[in-house]
Amino acid sequence: MMKSLLSIDDLDRSGIIEICDLAESFLTVTHRDIPKVPALRGKTVASVFYEESTRTRLSFETAAKRLSADVMTMNMSSSSVKKGESLRDTVQTIEAMGVDAMVIRHSGAGAPNRVATWVDLSIVNAGDGRHEHPTQALLDVYTARRHLGADLSGARIAIVGDIRRSRVARSTTKAFAQLGAKVTLVAPPTMLPDSLVGWPVVASSDFDSVLPEVDLVYLLRIQHEREDSLAFPSLREYTERYGLTRDRADRLRPEVLIMHPGPMNRGVEIAPEVAESDASVITEQVENGVAVRMAVLYHLLGSGAAVA
Ligand code: CP
Repeated sequence: MMKSLLSIDDLDRSGIIEICDLAESFLTVTHRDIPKVPALRGKTVASVFYEESTRTRLSFETAAKRLSADVMTMNMSSSSVKKGESLRDTVQTIEAMGVDAMVIRHSGAGAPNRVATWVDLSIVNAGDGRHEHPTQALLDVYTARRHLGADLSGARIAIVGDIRRSRVARSTTKAFAQLGAKVTLVAPPTMLPDSLVGWPVVASSDFDSVLPEVDLVYLLRIQHEREDSLAFPSLREYTERYGLTRDRADRLRPEVLIMHPGPMNRGVEIAPEVAESDASVITEQVENGVAVRMAVLYHLLGSGAAVA
């Protein structure tokens, strides 16, 4: 059994499908009057976020509670990290309190991998720098399969925007490719990785030519916080060339899905009315995220018994 989820590479195709199948039963649980099962009663999950988060942190904490686990949330601004406590001392301190799993987000690429060498817990990577965001990838694949069918082989997916700085792009591209989808990265050359060796994709800098050919458009957030300068002359120019404007959305095939990991820069990578349109499953991604994270926690900590 897998102990930690540090990268989407920790799961092969069958592992991704297994999590998606498990998430399907947990989605049913989340729709019950009392959306709770005793699956992880007696387990404790620590939520340790060194970087800001709304969706991932609350989603994991909700998922753990719905599995009846106890949840320990570290409030970074009032923790001893502010006094200079090291990452290693912090996680070993949390481990000493009797924790079964730690969900960690950190600005340093590889931080969860280091943590996994210092403690004997299940570690879940909730996003590390530009590196990986495996549970975002799982909820994206899960959401896409619910609409496009369980078999994504042949599905044409455009991932658009700030690829170079995006941990979501790195993990989600690999997950879609594992399931056989054909992924096109769409970005100006300055927002593409220096090398695409190892990326199971093709790349294009011409969003307009890709538009009529895809089944799913996945927009990425422009990440102002990760670099001093924009990799594009101005946000207005970015939107003109790469934003999913109303005009571009009108040129998509009628059954196309529109996804975004959030948080969105409305009016930059996506027009507000497109984000609210029937084609958009952005809110559904968030809803599915709870079920997928229940599946991940259960997969790592559960006894293997059937979900009640
Ligand atoms: N998609 C995502 O990781 O969002 P948060 O930063 O709000 O967790």
